Amino acid sequence: MLIAGNWKMNGLSPALGEVEALIRELKARPVAAKVLICPPATLMSRVAAVAGGVISIGGQDCHPQPSGAFTGDISAEMVRDAGGTWVIVGHSERRQYHGETDTLVAAKATAGWRAGLGVIVCIGETEAERLAGQEEAVVDRQLAASIPDAAATSPTAVAYEPVWAIGTGRTPTIEEIARMHAHLRQQLTKRFGNGARAIPILYGGSVNPKNAKEILAVPEVGGALVGGASLKATDFLSIVGAAPVGS
Ligand code: 13P
Repeated sequence: MLIAGNWKMNGLSPALGEVEALIRELKARPVAAKVLICPPATLMSRVAAVAGGVISIGGQDCHPQPSGAFTGDISAEMVRDAGGTWVIVGHSERRQYHGETDTLVAAKATAGWRAGLGVIVCIGETEAERLAGQEEAVVDRQLAASIPDAAATSPTAVAYEPVWAIGTGRTPTIEEIARMHAHLRQQLTKRFGNGARAIPILYGGSVNPKNAKEILAVPEVGGALVGGASLKATDFLSIVGAAPVGS
């Protein structure tokens, strides 16, 4: 099971103290789950130094090109160079605030693999789409167009993050999560055959210490992508500790 923390645009130097606390605790009490933190790019190498290999580090985004005149962007190679082994692509905040299309997200995924990173591709419907009963059609379209064929043989995770559940304290019901993750597993298997088994499907959207155990116990939930609750070591540790034993 992979428990990933996405810090988004949060974290100044004092946040390293939270990582130190996390590492101290994980060294004292090792857990079954793989733990990943995706801090802002400015902190990546410092978080990697503190992590000392106990947890993995990832980027929150990358540009499709390895280098060039793209002011303000960060390449997958730079994520790797800063100590990252994973990169998130296609987060709904990138899609929403930066107009990222499925085609661009797919190019970013390819860039992540090129640089030797594992790639977490995010998908998920908006509230209007769910109310219209379109959630499966939306994620199917995103799965088909944001995830390149190479996912069958490259380190990949899918993060199902319903947009309306992000940062709102609202989550789908356990039954809705179970239904969606079963659907996504079916779609991945249809497309990638046996290669799909190696692709965990993370759930993201208002995961917290209270609901983590129930969510992580759902069949085909292969981990979590945690926003707000990943910023505090104690909260994030409770979520990490909620991963089923042997998962
Ligand atoms: P929250 O956990 O804050 O709802 O954010 C989820 C998310 O977007 C993780 O990528």
